[in-house]
Amino acid sequence: MSSRMRITLALPKGRIFEEALPLLARAGIVPEESPEQTRKLLIGTNVPDLRIVVVRASDVPTYVQYGAAELGIAGADILLEHGGDGLYQPVDLAIGRCRLCVAAPAAFDYAGAVGRGARLRVATKYVLAARDFFARKGVHVDLIKLYGSMELAPLAGLADAIVDLVSSGATLRANDLVEVEQIAAISSRLVVNQAAYKTRRANLAPLIDAISQAVPR
Ligand code: PRP
Repeated sequence: MSSRMRITLALPKGRIFEEALPLLARAGIVPEESPEQTRKLLIGTNVPDLRIVVVRASDVPTYVQYGAAELGIAGADILLEHGGDGLYQPVDLAIGRCRLCVAAPAAFDYAGAVGRGARLRVATKYVLAARDFFARKGVHVDLIKLYGSMELAPLAGLADAIVDLVSSGATLRANDLVEVEQIAAISSRLVVNQAAYKTRRANLAPLIDAISQAVPR
């Protein structure tokens, strides 16, 4: 098959990759190597002409938007920040489930501060989602962009509250934080480059269908 028909699937490293493996296996897709065991970032699969690129979670939509990968798996949190330009999101894969929340120190009267119309300092990696959420609620916030370890911000005096992903809640508990608002339920989606979907539908549809049918219902 010509290289024009090659399909590239962008996968995020880490937890979502681990959850994606069994799903992909049910769809008949098995990587030739595990990213945990190789430093290679381009990995072949058992499916002819299908390869995997392993990238940072926040880079998956970018690879797919620009057509460097026709397909990708990205969390709804990442897609909210990216905006989804140039992407179809045809399948909720029901993996990587968690929630995007506002959390604050147990000792901080968040509801009282919001009720008084106080201006809150909120630290987050999810600036767009947070801005939209607080604007809709009419809460005044100064957003502070962080790239990780948001839980530290209130403890260190950097912020009153954080917007972050919560799964088991263990990270919040370990840092004396409590969830005070839920912003969105999060799971991972299959994303498809819009132009490729239109021009290479016959080529991509069998894979998209196989992945879709592998989602537990
Ligand atoms: C996420 C999130 C929290 C943690 C929540 O981080 O940012 O820190 O998981 O999980 P829990 O409720 O089960 O404790 P992740 O481990 O994905 O790493 P990241 O900070 O690099 O995104």
